[in-house]
Amino acid sequence: MHITPMTGGVGAEIVGADVRNASQFDDIFAAFVEHAVIAIRGQDILPEEQIAFAERFGTININRFFAKVPGYEKLAMVLKEPDQEHAIGESWHTDHSYDEAPAMCSILHCIETPSTGGDTLFASMYRVFDGLSDGLKDTLRGLNAWHSSRHAFGYSNSQNEAKQTGRVGNPELATQDSLHPVVIRHPLSGRETLYVNPGFTIRIDGWTEEESKSLLDYLYSQSTLPEYTCRVRWQPGTITVWDNRATWHRAVNDYHGHRRLMHRITVEGEPLSAAQAS
Ligand code: SIN
Repeated sequence: MHITPMTGGVGAEIVGADVRNASQFDDIFAAFVEHAVIAIRGQDILPEEQIAFAERFGTININRFFAKVPGYEKLAMVLKEPDQEHAIGESWHTDHSYDEAPAMCSILHCIETPSTGGDTLFASMYRVFDGLSDGLKDTLRGLNAWHSSRHAFGYSNSQNEAKQTGRVGNPELATQDSLHPVVIRHPLSGRETLYVNPGFTIRIDGWTEEESKSLLDYLYSQSTLPEYTCRVRWQPGTITVWDNRATWHRAVNDYHGHRRLMHRITVEGEPLSAAQAS
């Protein structure tokens, strides 16, 4: 297998791998830990084989909100039809940060992609944190932030097109509120990384909403600088695995009138520790 970094900051492309081959998993996993996003090309595999690949990472987290691939409880469907306006995940976020034990990774298998567009952007939260001043890093190390699923998946967001079209549901299950360190010690790499995101972080613990917004807005303004990002161009058969504890992602919604279908699995993580706890 050939592993080629996509940019100077985050992501690698893997060609010549077969995710069904257990003997290749250690190399794939090492590339995932090192690069935080891996796009594995040419995986023309069955749903059962995507599930078996995911189970090598850990226990599958069955998503509460996404529609399922028919017949496969463990596979969430990420779909946009030609007549739909909004794509799932079209704003920057990281998956499941509202859970007490946030997801380790997500594994997206491209089934159908528009002939142009429909890429996914990723940003490295390692790089963002490394780029801050020592003074701000020290301040952030002492903070915790609240993350919630309520505003994104609960009843208050019922006008959301993904909900109206049945792609996302179960608003009664959107009850998760979790407190995590703003800077975590990554459980696999041991590196410090920033752990807040615009999708689910609602405020800094002990700060007013206004104070929280000012700090989070500043951090978010730094988080998508081009040198911290990479872009995956999909082909049917591409599998991308991303590290939810070290990256954000965003589905680029630039393919109106065309269909895009992905099968997603998210793998369980563990409660996160503050950076200074190491
Ligand atoms: C997601 O946010 O899980 C979907 C990403 C994508 O469809 O590119």
